[in-house]
Amino acid sequence: MNRIYAGTLRNEHVGQKIVLAGWVQKQRDFGELVFVDLRDRSGICQVVADQKLTADAAVIAAAKELRTEFVVRVEGEVVHRLEERRNPKMPTGDVEVVASKIEILNRADTPPFMIEDETDAAEELRLKYRYLDLRRAPLTRNLMLRHKVIFAVRDYMNRNGFLEIETPILTKSTPEGARDYLVPSRVHRGTFYALPQSPQIFKQLLMVSGLERYFQIARCFRDEDLRRDRQPEFTQVDVEASFIDEEFIYGLIEGLFAEIFPVAGIAVKTPFPRMRWQEAMDRFGIDRPDTRFGMELVDITTAAKNTTFEPFRAAATVRAIVVPGGASLSRKRIDEIVEEAKKLGASGLVWIKFDAQKGSSIKKFLDDAAFDSLRAALGAKENDMALIVAGKQTTVWDVLGQLRLRIAKEQGMIPENRWDFLWVTDFPLFEWDEESQRYFARHHPFTSPALDDLGKLESDPGATMARAYDVVLNGLELGGGSIRINRTEVQSRMFKALGINEEEAKDRFGFLLEAFRYGAPPHGGIALGVDRMVMLMSGSESLRDVIAFPKTARAQDLMSDAPSGVDVKQLHELGIALEREG
Ligand code: AMO
Repeated sequence: MNRIYAGTLRNEHVGQKIVLAGWVQKQRDFGELVFVDLRDRSGICQVVADQKLTADAAVIAAAKELRTEFVVRVEGEVVHRLEERRNPKMPTGDVEVVASKIEILNRADTPPFMIEDETDAAEELRLKYRYLDLRRAPLTRNLMLRHKVIFAVRDYMNRNGFLEIETPILTKSTPEGARDYLVPSRVHRGTFYALPQSPQIFKQLLMVSGLERYFQIARCFRDEDLRRDRQPEFTQVDVEASFIDEEFIYGLIEGLFAEIFPVAGIAVKTPFPRMRWQEAMDRFGIDRPDTRFGMELVDITTAAKNTTFEPFRAAATVRAIVVPGGASLSRKRIDEIVEEAKKLGASGLVWIKFDAQKGSSIKKFLDDAAFDSLRAALGAKENDMALIVAGKQTTVWDVLGQLRLRIAKEQGMIPENRWDFLWVTDFPLFEWDEESQRYFARHHPFTSPALDDLGKLESDPGATMARAYDVVLNGLELGGGSIRINRTEVQSRMFKALGINEEEAKDRFGFLLEAFRYGAPPHGGIALGVDRMVMLMSGSESLRDVIAFPKTARAQDLMSDAPSGVDVKQLHELGIALEREG
């Protein structure tokens, strides 16, 4: 007899004698008739133990003993359900299995929460019992989808001549902008490995080695503040290739997405639109714009400076978003938005309602002429409302970019089932940090400056553009990469621009600089976030829903209780003493 997955049973199986194995979802005992819902990873089907149909008393006895989550093996025949028993809500609802044998393979304690598609059990409890949570169909489905996506990635990359090569996990720090997770060495006391933030340096070295096309489904580790779209350990499709340019990467990744998104039933139209970083910031206030809806930022600096409102006149820039129909927003909600803007860094937020009352937080500074000229500059319609922020360009972008997203979400402005892929290109190479008064690499220090901008590395670092690109989907950064520096001399100049002196550069990346002296080909690549891709494909809210054993927002594994203390002996061997708390 064949083992068949429970969730796959259909009318065409009627008459077959089969074996099922799985867990008891539910048991209902009607005396001479016992129904058992049996679940395995494919779904649920109904098993019937019926005294009238079986000569074997043991079948009824075993069925009566079954409790939720017991592990069972059932032999039986697939039959049509009686009309009154049919359940159109279940994929297997037309059939049932009449048991001829029921074997209890294991018993189970009552689980701390019910294994059901919809659950109101607290997430903490579900994370503690993650192995039970994974029995729930939505999570099982997500892991199956993740498998299919990774499988399709491997297939596509292989067909395109890429070699899957593993790079070390115990390694040296790779600069990707986050803190490293460190691993102390026992043999070399007082020294540490770093877990890779990405395989960046190794994949570049593989290009020096002449492997030409590399990819890896790579685990990366970053000790950074976590959000719904960040985990401390996550997975990348990491890619690098030699003798290529930006166009090669765009084509490669568009081709990849056109194969893997359909795995989740999502059609992909290529080529993807492209947008320069500057345009993204000006129109959306963010370098990963969600282009599924409008409400773009409007520059109203000139009109705003013509008012008598001093903060407008003093500001470097004045920009706004116009909320369609926003004049109906309540005073309470508007006050909240003002507070949100301040939390995001704005010194204030001005609002104007374009309704009969012409309500505004700066009404006394607006005569009719100023009101009309602002309205014209904003392109606002009757009953719209403008939210205006004045100040430094970066702050204004950031505040309005965030408000745009929040308000669109709350007003239901974001269309569902739309998949807006976008390349963002022409990033600045550096980012100025006010606090430390120095430049940081916006991407990482191996990204090549635009060819025409090489001269600016020393004279005008802030205006140097990078050969970098991000791929964005519905406002989420799915991946990023660049064409790299492949000449020692340029790499040294880059380190200098970043304030990394020669000795430090040698200490941290000496092996890479040295490798470049032995004939490094022109090369470039990209890395895509697997967790993020599967999150979007499966319509999940959080990365935790697509990772088998994820961490909490505080980077803990509630199931295994990691991180946790270690033996004093172990610390001693490593030569580590802990500071006393407090
Ligand atoms: P980057 O740092 O942009 O580039 O990372 C690439 C992609 O990895 C995903 N990602 C994350 N996913 C989940 N949790 C995190 N904490 C997290 N951090 C990043 C994102 C992101 O777009 N070495 C370069 C790539 C290159 O230049 O080739 C790199 O790692 O989807």
